[in-house]
Amino acid sequence: MTENKPVILTADDKSVELAIHSGTIGPSCVDISKLYKETGHFTYDPGFMSTASCRSAITYIDGDAGVLMYRGYPIEQLAKHSNFLEVSYLLMNGELPSANQYSTFEHEVTHHTMMHEAFRTFLYGFRHDAHPMAMMTGMLGSLAAFYHGDLDLEDPEQRRLAAIRLLAKVPTIAAACHRYSIGWPIRYPRNNIEYVDRFLHMMFEVPSEPLMLSPVAAKALDLLFILHADHEQNASTSTVRLVGSTGANPYACVAAGVAALWGPAHGGANEAVLQMLNEIGRPENVGSAIDKAKDKNSGFRLMGFGHRVYKNFDPRAKIIREMCHQVLAELGVNDPLLEVAMRLEEAALKDEYFIARKLYPNVDFYSGIIYKALNIPAEMFTVMFAIARTAGWVSHWLEQQNDPENKIGRPRQLYTGAAARDYTPIAGR
Ligand code: CMC
Repeated sequence: MTENKPVILTADDKSVELAIHSGTIGPSCVDISKLYKETGHFTYDPGFMSTASCRSAITYIDGDAGVLMYRGYPIEQLAKHSNFLEVSYLLMNGELPSANQYSTFEHEVTHHTMMHEAFRTFLYGFRHDAHPMAMMTGMLGSLAAFYHGDLDLEDPEQRRLAAIRLLAKVPTIAAACHRYSIGWPIRYPRNNIEYVDRFLHMMFEVPSEPLMLSPVAAKALDLLFILHADHEQNASTSTVRLVGSTGANPYACVAAGVAALWGPAHGGANEAVLQMLNEIGRPENVGSAIDKAKDKNSGFRLMGFGHRVYKNFDPRAKIIREMCHQVLAELGVNDPLLEVAMRLEEAALKDEYFIARKLYPNVDFYSGIIYKALNIPAEMFTVMFAIARTAGWVSHWLEQQNDPENKIGRPRQLYTGAAARDYTPIAGR
């Protein structure tokens, strides 16, 4: 980090020198941490449009140039050459693993995939039609109860182990939620197969016959996991960090991240995209969907379009779009929704409303069509996102726990409520 000439801010009759910090790349940051103490003013930035909440060395995004890098490696290269487990190691540890480091990591993750049997009782307490994201939030939160007493957050090895456990157990929990909702017996994780294959087995294998797993499906899912693994200080990761800043149990932090991810403005968009494409139904209806999205009174947005950071294109969407065509062709799936999606994308990209606001397809626009081709039900789409993003959440949590600047997250506010007034007894109101 380099330091620059400070800026001088004058408020009322007080001037304050504010340091400017520069990172490796990307915009520099004006350090306002002393502003209140020295001037009595807060800053105001709803939605954190201009506010960096922490220093981080994990992921870099240049939204104008459509660049995404994990630990300096461009997402396109990782998508082409790596796999999800290697990417998870990279995010957590900062460097790509050697062959030995990779096999140790894989062994560790593989041998932490089992759940305590009491989880079944907990799972069976949900209604059969519970949304899997609600179940995921509850189940992950409950992990805190299983690993609390013996967890010393001051011990780096115990923190690392908690991160490995999360990465290992989230797919087991996700598959269990799915199987419970369709009334299938829960499958135990198999240790003789790889991470993504293991997850697909836990999802789809039935006791009565072996599962013939398509390598195309496993490869596609692995790639989707890589693309969703991290995205710097997004809403769910910032939630994990905010909860983590209080010294809370890491499983509780990740459960909070899952809850934040569920919203349709964030990870819930992938499920919403499929719902929207189904509602549009046919390419002829694309024009009226575009008109509705432009009408502010309709309350309707094009799901899978727009991003807070990407204002040119989302590099993940570019990779997924290409993959979508390949996967459907290789699996022999002819999904009419792909035609609807392509026509919608084409029409929006030519439309002045979307051009002026720099709204492009995001990572979720095509991912649902791929999940659908892999027989993953729509209500599980955001759960898929959660499995992948667990790698990012635990990496940020680990980074935060090591950060000497870590303080409890406590934003301030611009108070707009009533000024001081006297209590009136009920009879006099
Ligand atoms: N359809 C129609 N209009 C839109 C859309 C959309 N999808 N997205 C933004 N706008 C308009 C919005 O109405 C506003 O117009 P105006 O300037 O006239 O008031 C302008 O574009 C800016 O929108 P904003 O809501 O201020 O932008 P934001 O940066 O706060 O929101 C977003 C980003 C992703 C929440 C938003 O684009 C959105 O709701 N998109 C649809 C949901 C979606 O696909 N979310 C997944 C995001 S990618 C996965 C992830 O990282 O979680």
